[in-house]
Amino acid sequence: MNDLLSVKNLSVAYGEKTTVRNVSLRLAEGAIRCLVGTTGSGKSTVLHAVAGLLGAGARITGGSIVFCGEELSDATPSRMRELLGNRISLIFQNPENFFDPIMRIGDQFAEFLKYHDSSLQNAECADMTVKALAEMRLEEPERLLSLYPFELSGGMLQRCAIALAMLSKPRLLLADEPTSALDIVSQAKILGELKRLNRETGTAILLVTHSMKVATALDGLVSVMHDGEVVEEGFARDVLSQPKAAYTKELIHSLPDIEEMRLVE
Ligand SMILES: Nc1ncnc2c1ncn2[C@@H]1O[C@H](COP(=O)(O)OP(=O)(O)OP(=O)(O)O)[C@@H](O)[C@H]1O
Ligand SMILES: [Mg+2]
Repeated sequence: MNDLLSVKNLSVAYGEKTTVRNVSLRLAEGAIRCLVGTTGSGKSTVLHAVAGLLGAGARITGGSIVFCGEELSDATPSRMRELLGNRISLIFQNPENFFDPIMRIGDQFAEFLKYHDSSLQNAECADMTVKALAEMRLEEPERLLSLYPFELSGGMLQRCAIALAMLSKPRLLLADEPTSALDIVSQAKILGELKRLNRETGTAILLVTHSMKVATALDGLVSVMHDGEVVEEGFARDVLSQPKAAYTKELIHSLPDIEEMRLVE
């Protein structure tokens, strides 16, 4: 099967310092892959490189990123803007950063919808938003339209962020620690929603997490990153039961409660 995303020998430097070295990973249509590693291992850098969101001080120094047959490592900013929020969507650790704090939820969805289709009327936007929020199993979605982000819990707001990210029916959802700021129950629920969305919509997911437990719960592929390199990859459950790299073993042994994460779907 053709890859949706193929990263080959990617290297990224911040200034003179190379922080991601020769990272390769593949993601088939509709697949899930987690990038797992401790802080500073380069996970977000890889995700930002794929999204074309590396900051001004960072540059890709080698390798390639091919999405749907298109080379993205040298894509122009305007091409990346076309892809983002369209065929590729993003969610982050803190959903508060995703939303404008002084704009009602409904208006933020309407703004996004009208950006993609300027012919849409307010009532149509409201209908589409309610449907998207209900799809993320948010209760009383009509009521949410008039609320501000701070009026929602972290879990609810992350559901709103996912609903917004999924509006364009992206082929690829990039998620950077989407559940790390949540309590354990909300975490399991949000991961359950991501798994369900993946199954029902076929949107592939590349998810960054420091937790092998999260990767195992999502039950897809995993790339273990350490010090800027991928040290091991495979199906999460195989890597968990038979880790090969010394670093992976360390990562697993630091998680005595590995069995406890059960997705809530
Ligand atoms: N804007 C930046 N300028 C300079 N160095 C950076 C920048 N962003 C990240 N780095 C460095 O690159 C390395 C990888 O960082 P990155 O954020 O990709 O790691 P991470 O695995 O996502 O970590 P975390 O789990 O803490 O989010 C780190 O050593 C970090 O200090
Ligand atoms: Mg990070």
